[in-house]
Parts: sequence; structure tokens; C-alpha cells
Amino acid sequence: MDLETKRQRIQEFAKARMDFDPTGHDFWHANRVSQLAQKLYIADFGNDNVDALMIIEAAAYLHDTIDDKLVSDIIFSQMEVEKLLEELEFSTEARENIMFTIQHMSYSKNLTNQYDLSIEGKYVQDADRIDALGAIGIARTFAYGGHANNEIYNPNIPVIDLKSKEDYRNHPTTAINHFHEKLLKLELTMNTEAGTKIAHERTEFMRQFLAEFMAEWQGEI
Ligand code: ADP
Ligand code: NI
Repeated sequence: MDLETKRQRIQEFAKARMDFDPTGHDFWHANRVSQLAQKLYIADFGNDNVDALMIIEAAAYLHDTIDDKLVSDIIFSQMEVEKLLEELEFSTEARENIMFTIQHMSYSKNLTNQYDLSIEGKYVQDADRIDALGAIGIARTFAYGGHANNEIYNPNIPVIDLKSKEDYRNHPTTAINHFHEKLLKLELTMNTEAGTKIAHERTEFMRQFLAEFMAEWQGEI
């Protein structure tokens, strides 16, 4: 099967499952993760390894289609992804790489275990984390918070130290708390040098936003 057809089929699959998601995990999130992960990989290794780039593209587009935030039946969704990859004639090795990556890359899963991702997986994970930062990260956080019925900010709700996926999903929080509980820490978890640099710049921008927000909240400006 030619690369263009593979690409189209993967994007159609992601679109059907993510389009119109109101929590910041819409199709365009997957699209940005794919673009950025490939750009970071190409900067380090060049663009000769077509197979590696295809693995990155597939994992990026598919990573949130098996997430419990978006789908109710994770096992069924994983089977659908496996079926798609077989139909698209990915090798067994490539299929295993993609499945392992999308099953183990999330922040919440890595709170309790540190999973060792493949090279391709590391670039996808960095790009996914970078998309949680900067102006886009701020927009996604408030979209998610609204959808989860959380307040923008409430000084009576404490920031907590998240230790497990259960803490992460179930504790009372606010959109502003989420910056302190997760987003400001992400830059320290990056795999690649280029990813770390972008993450740092975007984190600085978020710190400025938070300083401005708190100054306005406290009536200082
Ligand atoms: P992962 O899939 O890596 O475990 P999530 O998909 O839960 O991470 O988070 C992706 C993005 O969704 C976050 O970076 C943030 O923008 C948003 N988000 C997740 N949880 C919250 C929350 N409690 N409040 C606000 N935004 C959140
Ligand atoms: Ni994601």
C-alpha cells in the first residue's frame, strides 16, 4: 500500500473519533502532535527513514483514540486500531511499536511507572506534552476544565501532589491548579533536547500568563 493512502486512512480514522471533541483532544491536537513530532525527529535524524516517520505519524494521530477520556470501551478501541494497522500493512514490529507507544505515553500512566518508549515513541510523547504548553496549552486547559465542570480558579481548592492516575482524574481541581499540578512540571519530563527547549520557552510564557492572572485576581492591576 502506498504511503499517501496509509496517511489518508489513518487521518480519516482519527477524524471519525476525535472531530468536534470539546476537551482539547480534537483532531487538530492529533494533527499538531504529528507535525511537531516529525519536525523534531527530522531535526535530529534527517528525513531518510520513511518507516520511522510513518510510525511517528501513525502513533501521533492514533494516541488519543484509545484514551479513556475519549472512548468508553478501551479494549474495543485498541482492537480497532490493531485492525486498522494490519489492514494498512504495517509490519508486526511497526504495529507493536505503535501500540506500545500509544498505550504507554500518557502523563497519567507514567506517574506510577516510567515506561521506556521506542525512539519514535519518545518524539511523539514530547510533541504531545509540548501541545499541552504555551498559548495552545492554556486554551486547552480552560476548554478541558469547563468540560469537566471545574472552576477557572478557586483559592479554597488546594494544589495537590499528583501520585497516581486516580489522583489525576478524580481529585477536585481548577484550571489554574492544573498548571501547578501538571503543566509547569512537564518541561522536566521531556525526552529530547529540542523538545526540552521548546517546552521551556512555552513554560515561560505560561508563567507570565499565571503572574498576570494572579495580579488581576488580587486587584493589583
Ligand atoms: P495524558 O493523556 O498525557 O495523561 P491528558 O490527556 O489528561 O494527559 O491531558 C492533556 C491535556 O488536557 C492537559 O495537558 C490539559 O491541557 C488538559 N487537562 C487534563 N486534565 C485537566 C484538568 N484537570 N484541568 C484542566 N485541564 C486538564
Ligand atoms: Ni494527546
